[in-house]
Amino acid sequence: MKYHIISVFPESTSSYLESSLLKRAKENGIIDVSFYNIRDYTEDKHNKVDDRPYGGGPGMVISAMPVLKAVEDAVEKSENPLIVFFTPHGEEFSNTMADEIKDEYTDAIFICGHYEGVDARVTQILKTKNVSIGNYVLTGGELPALVMIDAITRRIPGVLGDGLSVEENRIAPKDPYTRPECFEYQGEEYCVPEVLRSGNHAKIDEFRKEN
Ligand code: ADE
Repeated sequence: MKYHIISVFPESTSSYLESSLLKRAKENGIIDVSFYNIRDYTEDKHNKVDDRPYGGGPGMVISAMPVLKAVEDAVEKSENPLIVFFTPHGEEFSNTMADEIKDEYTDAIFICGHYEGVDARVTQILKTKNVSIGNYVLTGGELPALVMIDAITRRIPGVLGDGLSVEENRIAPKDPYTRPECFEYQGEEYCVPEVLRSGNHAKIDEFRKEN
């Protein structure tokens, strides 16, 4: 899967992508991430990405043309891309949507807006898939892009490294424990449940399923 992040602050996402599972998936060639800075697609001498909204109102709106040009660039580098626009008014993201994207597309192009939004002609022209990651308002689309990249990538077979990629199929403990077996905290002793220390795998699986 190839991801393309279009943003005014594309570098703000890079440290998360350079850690843990996503870093490994990148190193193994399972995913690839490209960044497109909207400012690089402006043509005026001040590299202005936004302007005042028609009809008045607060804040600034990101101009259509540099976003359209950045998307064109990403589309050229894609095989079968889905173009996603982030907005709190979009369709709510879910595991089902993650699977559909993973199964039906080779590339996901994420348009990350900021300020008071992006000129509405962008979504009209590109017929974007408008996605929300939840019922709250964020400052921009960078966090939603990372959320989608993470959730989609961990569902690609082989990424979790144990042959069972999808959470629903794993017997992963909901309440995990690690060493030490017992510790004291503010006068109370807290111990790992006896059955997990028993070495009896049938009983352990049964305990985990029950929990
Ligand atoms: N942009 C601002 N808030 C958002 C949200 N909750 N989901 C997706 N994009 C957003």
